[in-house]
This record gives sequence, C-alpha cells and structure tokens, in this order.
Amino acid sequence: MKALVLAGGSGTRLRPITHTSAKQLVPVANKPVLFYGLEAIAAAGIREVGIIVGDTHREIEAAVGDGSAFGLSVTYLRQDAPLGLAHAVLIAREYLGDDDFVMYLGDNFIVGGIEPLVRRFRADRPAAQIMLTRVGDPRQFGVAELDGTGRVVGLEEKPREPKSDLALVGVYLFTAAVHEAVAALKPSWRGELEITDAIQWLIDAGRRVESTVVSGYWKDTGNVADMLEVNRLLLETVEQRLDGEVDPGSEIIGRVVVEAGARVTGSRIVGPVVVGAGAQVRDSYVGPFTSIAEDCQVVDSEIEYSILLRRASIHGVRRIEASLIGHDVEVTPAPNTPRAHRLVLGDHSKVQISS
Ligand code: TTP
Repeated sequence: MKALVLAGGSGTRLRPITHTSAKQLVPVANKPVLFYGLEAIAAAGIREVGIIVGDTHREIEAAVGDGSAFGLSVTYLRQDAPLGLAHAVLIAREYLGDDDFVMYLGDNFIVGGIEPLVRRFRADRPAAQIMLTRVGDPRQFGVAELDGTGRVVGLEEKPREPKSDLALVGVYLFTAAVHEAVAALKPSWRGELEITDAIQWLIDAGRRVESTVVSGYWKDTGNVADMLEVNRLLLETVEQRLDGEVDPGSEIIGRVVVEAGARVTGSRIVGPVVVGAGAQVRDSYVGPFTSIAEDCQVVDSEIEYSILLRRASIHGVRRIEASLIGHDVEVTPAPNTPRAHRLVLGDHSKVQISS
C-alpha cells in the first residue's frame, strides 16, 4: 500500500502567507502541519509516499527531503497547476501502479491518526473508503448520503440542500479501481477534477464505497481560524520543558516549552506556550496557546492565542490576539504624533485595528 499526499494547491484562504510559502509548512506548535500527516502515515505502516507538489515544490522538498527522517521513502510528483484532487490522482497514475493507496490532504490534521482506518480498509478492500464527520453547516463541504448500513449512496460537493450533516474529511482510501473513474471525469464548474465526482462514478458503476464516521477531531488548516484552533489543540498536549534560559525576573506558569537557545527575561508566560530555539522574549506577557517559532523576538509586548513564524519580531505592541504572523514580519508601534497607523502590507494581507 502507498500514500499520496497532496501538498500543492493555491492556498488562497491563507494569503498572504501563501504568497511566499507553502501552507502545508505553516507550523502548528512549532512543527509544520504536513509533518503530522507524514507521521500518521508512517504510524499506519505505510512506507512509500508520493507527494504532489506545485509552485512551492522547492520548499516542500527541502523540508521533507527523501522522507527517511519519517521512516518513509518519498517520491515527488509535480502538478503544473492545482487542477483538483482527482487531477492529483491522475498525474500519480504511474507512480501508484495497481497498488491500493491512502490519499491524504497535506493541510489536514487528524487526531488519533489513520491507522484504524487503514487496518479496516486492508481487511475489507472496498473500491473506496471515505472518512466523514458531522458538521454544523454542511453546505460548505462535500456531503455524503448513506444507506442504513453505512454504505455511501451519493455524494454532493457544497450542496445547497444537504441530504445529511456528514462532511468528507481529507483522508480517502482507494483500490486501483479509482483510476478508471478519474480517467472518465470532466472538469467541474470550477474547472477542477473533483474527487467527489470520481467516488460518485464508482457508486454509479456499482462499486462498493464504504465510510467511517469519525467523532475524533479533524481540521482543515486552510484558514487562519482553523490553524489557530489546531495550534491550541496541539499545545494542550505539551509538557513543561525549560531547556533555554529563563532569568529569575521571569514567571513561567503551566505547560511552557522554552527550547534550548531561547531566552526569556523579565517576562510572564502563561502556558500552554512554545518558544522556539533562538527566540527572545523580553519584558513581555505571552498568554495561552501561543507558538513562537525559532529566532523570533517579542519585546515589551503582549501576545496571546497566536502563531509567530520564524524571525518575526514584535516590539512595544499590546496586545496581539488570534493572529498569524509570517516569517520576518516586524510589528512596532507608530510614533505618537500624528496619531495614525503606518502600514506596509503585502498583497492580500488582513489587518484588524482596534482603535
Ligand atoms: P484545498 O485547501 O482544497 O485547496 P487550495 O490549496 O487550492 O486552497 P484554497 O482553497 O485556500 O485556495 O486543497 C487541499 C489540499 O490539497 C491542500 O494541501 C492543497 C492540495 N491540493 C493539491 O495538491 N492539488 C490540487 O489541485 C488542489 C486543488 C489541492
């Protein structure tokens, strides 16, 4: 069995972060979201992984390498444009051969991993096995209709009148039967080859499509709110570890990780929080559910429920909340007069000013 991990796409919902970096590499609890997926695949006993990459291929390749750090053997498959999840299966046809495979969306996060799902699929081998979860507003998702036994009888992409509240989660298991379905697809109204259409094709052809309803946590980290929420969830699991320097004038409360090479002086940190190697926190307050990446600076500031990417610096600003701050970003106060905001914002930035 192989895995096909989708790490291309355009990432419009995470702009401007995705103008310069791959969304799958945005760190949650200071580790790229993609790494959690690769670890889950390895834990399910899969070794051969094809990673679909697009414009950000260099960055993904530099981060994941040959996969040996995860116990995997990784092959990169280049997708020229994000033409849909089923298009990714189409271009992976040769790599996948006639093997069964798990398709995993590289920006998804699934608590509890995928091992039980893979085990069930291996024992049962339906043409496709999908994972579903109950959602509040199914109209934003791919939605499944089931019969009494849990077999999938129909799928709809973002339906206006959903037939259930069961949305598809970003992990799919297939036998080689899916290739025939994918080869028969035409692009949808949004110009993509849709994986829901491929699965519907299998159902229409009388092939068996099974589902598992997961009650555990899953998140698509495609937008900032979900990214912060996954970060919160992961930080809930850290234990206190102070390998870096914490001066006597600082107060550390609860589950806080200060990595070796980080320095905390004159500050109060209320966990769960991680402070990456080489980061400095000086004369500041860092509140719960904050991840500060390597080589960041937080000076004379207050920050809470936020993610800072590498080398971001926050000087003299209070208070920052629910924010995702990109690589090498600088946030500073404006001079007192005139009382005005001075902004240098990249394309597609989103700023909420409280005054
Ligand atoms: P999406 O989040 O559905 O799509 P996107 O990356 O284009 O993001 P947005 O909606 O914000 O513009 O994609 C899910 C995952 O699959 C993500 O990791 C990107 C990847 N993907 C591909 O690799 N190729 C594709 O053609 C598409 C559509 C997505």
